[in-house]
Amino acid sequence: MTADPRSRIFVPLDTSDLETALRITRMLKGHVGGVKIGKEFFTALGPAGVARITDEGMPLFLDLKFHDIPNTVAGAVRSAVAMAPIILNVHAGGGKAMMAAAANAAKEEAEKQGVPRPLVLGVTVLTSLDETDLADTGVSGTAEDQVLRLARLAGAAGLDGVVCSGAEIEPLRAALGPGFKLLVPGIRPDWAAAGDQKRILTPSDAVARGADFLVIGRPITGADDPVAAAEKIGDELANAA
Ligand code: C5P
Repeated sequence: MTADPRSRIFVPLDTSDLETALRITRMLKGHVGGVKIGKEFFTALGPAGVARITDEGMPLFLDLKFHDIPNTVAGAVRSAVAMAPIILNVHAGGGKAMMAAAANAAKEEAEKQGVPRPLVLGVTVLTSLDETDLADTGVSGTAEDQVLRLARLAGAAGLDGVVCSGAEIEPLRAALGPGFKLLVPGIRPDWAAAGDQKRILTPSDAVARGADFLVIGRPITGADDPVAAAEKIGDELANAA
């Protein structure tokens, strides 16, 4: 983690429109740590679209949540490394062998291409699933039990960390130690609207509990002045440090 607290912040480019994504990227460069590109942008615009964003010099979190047999995920990770993300992710539910294949592919391909190795994170339990939904898929126990189980598996498979909700930061930090990276969405400064996010934390709360990276969308992209909003969050993080 660099000293600049703003480098923790990743802003999602949840759009299929390249010009909108470029406008946000250019505006926020130097004010946040990077952008998050997910399935909406990637399915519409592909690696060429991603290159237009990274050409602006903005660090990339490639949020494609791979989940398939180990060999296929390894191939997808190798293709992803060519887009030079600093973070990418896979579903921890794909199992230990799949996660290990992803971690190895990221390391080998980065060495081969002479680029820095991206952090590979596991997605544990989607926050859109409650305990009833989990039970319907055959998972008994609480969502937190399942998050901890999958995070331990991710660590054992050699992943760098997980994506988790704010409620899970402290138990995960306690169970997996200080080096395990935690990336947390659902972040809202106390001056921003919650929107459809239900269990929210402020940026400084999340970092105080042990978050390494924060995904912050609408409080920045939906603000009248996105740069001022990003700077305000950065200042709050700096003051809390
Ligand atoms: O900050 P905001 O709610 O606008 O951020 C939304 C982004 O965070 C979206 O890209 C969404 O996919 C992602 N996300 C989320 N909640 C989760 C996991 C990811 O909002 N539990």
